[in-house]
Amino acid sequence: MKRKKSYQYRSQKKKGKALPITLTSLGVIVAGIIIWIGMNDWNLEKSYEKVEDAITLVIYKDDNKVEDETTEPTNPDENSDSEIIDENDKGEEPKDEVPEGETPEEEMPEKTPDKDNRKYIEGQELPKEPTYIKGILIANKQYPLPRTYAPGESKEARAAFNEMAAAAKLDGFELIAFSTYRSYDYQTGLYERYVERDGSAAADRYSARPGYSEHQTGLAFDIGEVDNEQYYASAKFGETDAGKWVAENAHLYGFIMRYPEGKEKITGYMHESWHFRYVGIEIAEEIYKQNISLEEYLGI
Ligand code: DAL
Ligand code: ZN
Repeated sequence: MKRKKSYQYRSQKKKGKALPITLTSLGVIVAGIIIWIGMNDWNLEKSYEKVEDAITLVIYKDDNKVEDETTEPTNPDENSDSEIIDENDKGEEPKDEVPEGETPEEEMPEKTPDKDNRKYIEGQELPKEPTYIKGILIANKQYPLPRTYAPGESKEARAAFNEMAAAAKLDGFELIAFSTYRSYDYQTGLYERYVERDGSAAADRYSARPGYSEHQTGLAFDIGEVDNEQYYASAKFGETDAGKWVAENAHLYGFIMRYPEGKEKITGYMHESWHFRYVGIEIAEEIYKQNISLEEYLGI
């Protein structure tokens, strides 16, 4: 009887402590989540994407991409006929269900389907011609390039980069474009190596499939700082003074940050603080001022 009593006492004591501990832990977790969302401008999607980015960076060792991306492509070689599609993605967009005849056609609100530009379009074939929208050459997961499109590095973009690099030098930063034009075949090898290393789902978040890379336009410049190779193609470049300088000044020379933070669903790729796209000064300034991506500017 005596023993039973003391057992009951200990068990009650344990129960008495368990509740406050559980409540405190829950409180800490909830507070952490609220603080995290607050740090991401109270934007749930952005908060979630940042968590995803962090996981990808940790698991897939994003920094190791450096070696692969620094090699410059050789002449394009047009031997491969393969067109790659994503066997997992259906490329379907959710349909708005409005019962017929309920709303007169002219009063129908404009539908803005919840697009997800991270997906490739199943069965899509590479086009015969590149796509221009509002006069801008576009290359993303919905708008691929012809396999044979091989303009080489844009002279105009290179001249603009050189001007930007000269201005950066006056401010103490020696910039370098460590990867610019990449041919279809070069991108094929690069993408395949990433898939081998990380699997296709992870690779698709940071590397374009052949025919879909903006580098094939000759207008994309991966920018870093001379003698700071450890930050080439690394998320950390954006935290360096040189990376911040480029982010704040590139538009003055006609470049835009192509894959901004929190816009993966719109641009199709995770944030790349080093990848800039030449669009010309006027458009670059407009995009910078409005703090939007190229897709948003083009309305695609
Ligand atoms: N890293 C960019 C998305 C590319 O592969 O073109
Ligand atoms: Zn790039």
